Amino acid sequence: MPDELKFIANGRKTQKRTTARIDGRNCIITGATSGVGLAAAKRIAKGGADLILVCRNPEKGSKVKEEVEKEHRVKVDTVTADFSDLDQVRRAAATILEKNTRIDFLVNNAGIHNTTRQLTDTGIEMVFHVVHLASFLLTRLLLNRILESSPARILYVNSEGHRFGGLDLDDLDWKKRRYSGFKSYGAAKTAQLMTIWELTEQLTNSGVTINAMHPGGVATNIGMNNGFLYRGYQRYLLFPFLSKPEISGEAIYYLIATPEMANVSGKFFNQTIEEKPAAHALNREIGKKVWEISEQLTGLKN
Ligand SMILES: NC(=O)c1ccc[n+]([C@@H]2O[C@H](COP(=O)([O-])OP(=O)(O)OC[C@H]3O[C@@H](n4cnc5c(N)ncnc54)[C@H](OP(=O)(O)O)[C@@H]3O)[C@@H](O)[C@H]2O)c1
Repeated sequence: MPDELKFIANGRKTQKRTTARIDGRNCIITGATSGVGLAAAKRIAKGGADLILVCRNPEKGSKVKEEVEKEHRVKVDTVTADFSDLDQVRRAAATILEKNTRIDFLVNNAGIHNTTRQLTDTGIEMVFHVVHLASFLLTRLLLNRILESSPARILYVNSEGHRFGGLDLDDLDWKKRRYSGFKSYGAAKTAQLMTIWELTEQLTNSGVTINAMHPGGVATNIGMNNGFLYRGYQRYLLFPFLSKPEISGEAIYYLIATPEMANVSGKFFNQTIEEKPAAHALNREIGKKVWEISEQLTGLKN
């Protein structure tokens, strides 16, 4: 089977699980108010780690905090940030750093899928901003603390959707091309992967690992912000074939908690099965340009 199609077989394989515990460790997770992130937060809390949930909706965040603290003996904090606004990401990072806690795990999970082109207030295409730029900035701002907490693990909830491609460095904002929801999603997830490979190199021998994963095809709220027709398609045609987000929670837990992953870095997993990403996402030359552009767009470098 060609590499590009192995994701189909991998998705059907029996996934790995772990019973390892992570009591007393600290985990930051973004987008934990729904779907994959919520399932992961619950599984991580079951494993014993305290949580900091970075959420855009404080009411939803408080509800998750209450629910998780009721079910598990862990402490849950919430920090508010809408990832369509990088100032909010900066404030969230500052708030987290002020807490002076270790960061043993960072799970970058928040994401969206838009069928129509939307821009942030700063004029950047929304999916690229929320999925890639915000997670890039958050990770970079927390990186020193993560390094101080070594051994630590960074995990990105990426997607097989990176295979849709769509990354054009001359047209990140889709001004020149007809907007495609699948391709803009593919572009953002590709950019995310490319910066992960760069970070992997920078983190060599630091005790901090960084990996990406596809959480499975699971029924969540993603895409439900789109129009009536798309929502209908998703609810009635797609959902019956999708799994429950608990499988994603188990896979994320395996990747951050199992001792088997202690020294594994710079890899992509289809849930828990290591897989080769699409060739375009492995282009390091373009990846270095993506790194530069991401540093500029997030104000990390002028
Ligand atoms: N579902 C799948 O089959 C699938 C497949 C491959 C990859 N993924 C990836 O899994 C991750 C989680 O998605 P999901 O399927 O669980 O979707 P979901 O149920 O819609 O959850 C997305 C999470 O991201 C948050 N979020 C969305 N926009 C945000 C913003 N502007 N600022 C901050 N947070 C924001 C949401 O907050 P609210 O609760 O406030 O909306 C929610 O907590 C995404 O990265 C997605 O690309 C999912």
